[in-house]
Amino acid sequence: MENFKNQVVIVTGAGSGIGEATALLFAQKGAKVVVSDINEIGGNNTLQQITVAGGEAIFVKTNVANRKEVEALVHTTITQYGQLDIMVNNAGIGGDFAFFAQITDEDWQRIIAINQTGVFYCMRAAIQVMKAAQSGNIVNVASLAGIGSAPRMGAYAASKHAVVGMTTTAAVEYAKYNIRINAVCPGVIKTPMGDSFKDLDPSASEIARKQIPMRRFGEAIEVANTISWLCSEGASFITGQAVRVDGGHRS
Ligand code: NAI
Repeated sequence: MENFKNQVVIVTGAGSGIGEATALLFAQKGAKVVVSDINEIGGNNTLQQITVAGGEAIFVKTNVANRKEVEALVHTTITQYGQLDIMVNNAGIGGDFAFFAQITDEDWQRIIAINQTGVFYCMRAAIQVMKAAQSGNIVNVASLAGIGSAPRMGAYAASKHAVVGMTTTAAVEYAKYNIRINAVCPGVIKTPMGDSFKDLDPSASEIARKQIPMRRFGEAIEVANTISWLCSEGASFITGQAVRVDGGHRS
């Protein structure tokens, strides 16, 4: 089994869904986990699950769209644990469903601020620490919407394409410092966000499910497993990739 003993991991958006599953998995595998979320209830819930199971974690409330809060998150991590080995940039929102010409300025700006600029702030702060340490792993949670189209989610698709672009570019720039940077691109995953896609149009959701070769939506743990593998020795020659976690879906 992968072992992350003596490693320190930050997971953003760790109060729910994929981020929660990822934080719990890293803690099970021995890492010290910095649980981060804008939502205190969700974040503290994940923290409690880790500590009850005997793991080591702290919760740092952070809005990833706020540069100062992101810098404070990384600073607190270093103050508390002395190092940062892995950063999982997972926090994100879906936004309102709207055809492209109906996207409002407010929704566009909100989605870009959290999903795109938030990942930029997190990557920049993490890379500064990892470059000094000459070692590190970053995994950004993008989406199939980051490598294809996402009807009625134009701003979301734009933000996730940006996440893939930041991943591939920074991976090339920092490979020589022993920092690996990858993205995962999940299909529909059963989380509160994934369920909101299904609630929008249950019949379209059922059609979408049947188009997935594995005939089901994904589980948060399946994305978490991919993230932890990307950060493990088993993936030691892999960087700059956008790894699909989608049951074989092609569209
Ligand atoms: P979720 O809604 O269950 O969890 C998202 C978490 O992010 C929540 O705890 C929320 O409080 C937090 N968050 C939202 N805005 C934040 C901010 N400004 N700062 C810090 N935390 C914030 O969603 P889920 O499904 O777990 O999504 C996680 C990531 O996976 C997102 O980036 C999403 O775009 C991506 N994704 C999800 C898919 C799905 O079907 N569930 C499919 C493809 C990608």
